[in-house]
Amino acid sequence: MTSTPVKTRVPFFMHDLGQAELDAVAEVLRNPILTTGEWVARFESLFADRLGARHAVGVTSCTGALHLSLVALGIGPGDEVITTPLTFIATATSIIEAGATPVFVDVEPETGNLNADRVEAAITDRTRAIMPVHLYGQMCDMRQLRLIADRHQLFIVEDSAHCVEGTRDGVRAGQLGDTACFSFYATKNLTCGEGGALVTNDDSLAEKLRLLRLHGMNKNANDRHREGYKHWDMTMLGWKYNMDNIQAALLLPQMDRLEENWRRRKDLASYYEQRLSDIPNLSRPATLTDVEHAWHLFPVWIGNGRRDRVIQELHNEGVSVMVNYRAIHLLTYLRETFGFRPGDFPVAESIGDASLSLPFYPNMPREHADRVVTKLREALD
Ligand SMILES: Cc1ncc(COP(=O)(O)O)c(C=O)c1O
Repeated sequence: MTSTPVKTRVPFFMHDLGQAELDAVAEVLRNPILTTGEWVARFESLFADRLGARHAVGVTSCTGALHLSLVALGIGPGDEVITTPLTFIATATSIIEAGATPVFVDVEPETGNLNADRVEAAITDRTRAIMPVHLYGQMCDMRQLRLIADRHQLFIVEDSAHCVEGTRDGVRAGQLGDTACFSFYATKNLTCGEGGALVTNDDSLAEKLRLLRLHGMNKNANDRHREGYKHWDMTMLGWKYNMDNIQAALLLPQMDRLEENWRRRKDLASYYEQRLSDIPNLSRPATLTDVEHAWHLFPVWIGNGRRDRVIQELHNEGVSVMVNYRAIHLLTYLRETFGFRPGDFPVAESIGDASLSLPFYPNMPREHADRVVTKLREALD
């Protein structure tokens, strides 16, 4: 592990892409097919295996994966999808892009995850799906959500942007959902800058999703390269969400480091937990006992309206932090479009007003973690 001088700025995240990824991309560049082709198929196969799913479909973002999932499941105008307000906006915007309406349900105070106990009360005649978000890398209660979904004949589309590796009560992402959607955005545990995938165990849904990710065309450039030109048909109205070989080449070598990087993040989380334990007025989301946490983010919760001052002080001291997330129902567009008001989802609002994510990535030098803790302690004094 490289050690960085203490005086440099502590970055929020640093990827670990290197020679293996350069070599993999160079190999793609020596071939004619830059777009969706063999590298994508190889990545999809490895990713599906890691998730224990029958199919993985590579796309250009998690947002696209969420949107396509809803469209493929036939969810659109007039339908409602139940989700959490404590998430990135893409969870809700994918529902809106599909033409449906997001219906928020408040979150659990201990974890920040969608409160499964409150979901049933939000179901109406128009509800078609539940979209849980495995926030920070800790899975929602998928067993309970599946029971509720089955009772009311609803689909489940998992927003698993934060959780590739995690499990809860032995259940992985994608195991009980109709689809689970993943992000390979620049700061994610697997990254190709921008990218995403979804997994599903439903053969016909997977086939439909493969068509929908590329205009609804029944042949792609790679097929033309392999088979020679054959006339293709457009069999449904799709989008342009297909992952390309360059993105897949960047992701493939990272699959070999997935477990090791997860272990490193677990170690860093334990280190932070131990070093932060005696700081007063600082709380953290609980990790539930039946959970194997994927550790995508490491948030702390700083209440009493002090969070934003602490962000500024940390910034002044060279420590980069983020907020994941302020409750999204109070963002201007959602508030004005759906008439949400402060107080609608008080638990999400209070976590959203307190949350601050500390720098966190597998190869983070321990002296950087020490500096984060010292500066956080000083800011809270
Ligand atoms: C919870 C959550 N959902 C969805 C997304 C969207 O992912 P992408 O940027 O790959 O579209 C993100 C990205 O940050 C996220 O954190």
